[in-house]
Order: sequence, then C-alpha cells, then structure tokens
Amino acid sequence: MPKRIFSGAQPTGNLHIGNYLGALRNWVALQHEYESFFCVVDLHAITVPQDPKELAAKSREVARIYLAAGVDPNVSTIFVQSDVQEHAELAWVINCVVRISELERMTQYKDKAKRQRENVSVGLLTYPALMAADILLYQTDLVPVGQDQKQHLELTRDVAERFNRDYGETFRVPDAFIPKVGAKIMALDDPSKKMSKSDENANGRISLLDDAATIRRKFKRAVTDSGTDVRFDASRPAVTNLLSVFQLLTGKTPEEIESHFAGKGYAQLKSDLAEATIEFLRPFQERMRDIGDEELSRTLKGGADKARSIAAETMRAVRERMGIVGA
Ligand code: TYM
Repeated sequence: MPKRIFSGAQPTGNLHIGNYLGALRNWVALQHEYESFFCVVDLHAITVPQDPKELAAKSREVARIYLAAGVDPNVSTIFVQSDVQEHAELAWVINCVVRISELERMTQYKDKAKRQRENVSVGLLTYPALMAADILLYQTDLVPVGQDQKQHLELTRDVAERFNRDYGETFRVPDAFIPKVGAKIMALDDPSKKMSKSDENANGRISLLDDAATIRRKFKRAVTDSGTDVRFDASRPAVTNLLSVFQLLTGKTPEEIESHFAGKGYAQLKSDLAEATIEFLRPFQERMRDIGDEELSRTLKGGADKARSIAAETMRAVRERMGIVGA
C-alpha cells in the first residue's frame, strides 16, 4: 500500500500564517511523496456553537485555501468531513474504546472547557475520538500538524494499538510530523500564547486573507522584548517568534537573517517582515480569487468519492472485527 498522509483544519475563524507555517506548508511539500488526504473538519467545528450558514461557507473557503496554498487536487484528495459519514461512525466506535480519563487529560479540552465555562458539549470532550477516526479511517502513516496537536496524535496511536490488540490487526499506527521551526507560531500581541483563529483579538494573528494595510498595522503593533538587537534568542520570545516567521517566509537561514538585521532595530524587523508577508500572500490571494465555484465543487465531490471508498473499506473491517454487522 502507498504511504499515506492525512491532515485537516477546522473551518472556524480565519486561517492564519500559524496554520500555514505549522501545517499547510508541509502538506504541500509532502504531497508528492505520499498519497495525501486533506480534510475540512466541519464535524469538529460543531463541538462549539456555530452559525449554520457561516459554517457552510467557511468549509468551502477553507477548501479554497488548501488549493490556493498549493495543495494539488490532481495528486491529493481534498474533501469535507461531513461528506463522508464513516468519520462519525468510526468516531462512535472509538468512543467505546477510548477512556474518559484519557479524554479528560487532553490539554486542549481543558483549555476550551475552561474558557467556555458552562454548557460544554460532550462533543468537546470526545473531539479527539473523532480526530482519531479521521486519521485511522485512511490507514494513515504520517500526520503533518502543529505542536498543539501532538497530544491528540499520541492518543490516536494509543487507541489504534488498543483496538489492534483487542480485536486483531486493523489500523496502521500513525506518526506525527511536527516541523522543527514553525510548529508553534505565537500571537503577535502576546508571545506566551499561540497564534489562534478563535482569539477575540484579531491583532494577534495575520490572517491569510488580510490586506497589505492590515498586515503592516498588525506587525507595527506587535509586542517585542526589552533589548534592541535583532537575533534569535530563546530568552526573547517575541522577537524570536517574528524572526521565525521571517525565516520561513523568506527561506533565508538564521545566520543570513541576523547579518541582514545587524545594527538595525525592531522597527526595521517589523517593517521588513510586513513586506515579506505581503509579498508572500499576494500570489496566494490571487489564486484564491481565481478558483471558480464550479471548479471547487468538482474538486470536493471527487475528493469525497475517493475518500468514501477508502473509509468504507476500513469500516467494513472494523464492523467485522467487532461483530457489528447488522442482522
Ligand atoms: P486547527 O484547525 O486548529 O489548525 C490547523 C493546523 O494548524 C496548526 N496550527 C498551528 N501551527 C503553528 N502555529 C500555530 N499557532 C498554530 N495554530 C494551529 C494545527 O496544529 C493544525 O495542524 N484538531 C485539528 C484538526 C483536525 C485534524 C484531524 C488534524 C481534525 N482532525 C486529523 C490532523 C489530523 C485542529 O483543530 O486544527
């Protein structure tokens, strides 16, 4: 069987450069070496309340972002999770295999539940079971994600191993692919928090769809550290975060970057970074506009058909192993 990749993003909020640098960029780089599945995970999005019209529109927008970022529909499969019912079915099965204590330990659940305080849905708790289902349905080898998904991947591996042990070899046990640089881009307004789609303050993130003036303004306002020289330095997280973004967007080495900024201050860093980001996003945003609605629908339909055929095969094996085969 070919080596497979699976990954996804939630169609909530606006995808930002953290999502691109931590995940999408690696999808694009790896898609020629692996058989790849990139999913818009709308069933994950509804673990917190969503406006139905907006969610449907966002699901298509996120698929368009995948394409504009360079995911090639001729080699990769792009689809929306709710088009493939096996995700929900396998998630139920995994809910019966995973333990409550394992789910309650997940830091993302604890953070989100704390922020929401009341009316936390059961879906928010079992979110990682659905994520494990996404991955295991496709007999995935590698899951390219940012640092914040590492714990969910470890749980996916544990669940796959438990199922294989209890019911017989059924799932491939996947590895996470987490990049060395870019796996955790921090918020521009607070370098102790990761850049987030759902943060109320939009100044903390550069959306992939921000215009030039917005990008300049957000970088200008970005928090920096004390000191003046522009170097990679773990004790100065705000500047190091900006430098990492610069490094990934320009493809320059840390040495080249430090010598470029020698004798220049933070203002220069922010302004060069803003220009590099604008340059980087220009062709991306043009491609976004060029992708027609019909083309998008065709891609998503073809993607769902392909995904469904593989997911159905895995589900057949799961049902048989567990004895849930109907009458
Ligand atoms: P989501 O939608 O929050 O984020 C999409 C991807 O972007 C990465 N990411 C970041 N990387 C670097 N810096 C940041 N500040 C940053 N913020 C987000 C995420 O790690 C992710 O790779 N649960 C997932 C979606 C999902 C999924 C899956 C992923 C559902 N099923 C199966 C992989 C495989 C999520 O909420 O990602």
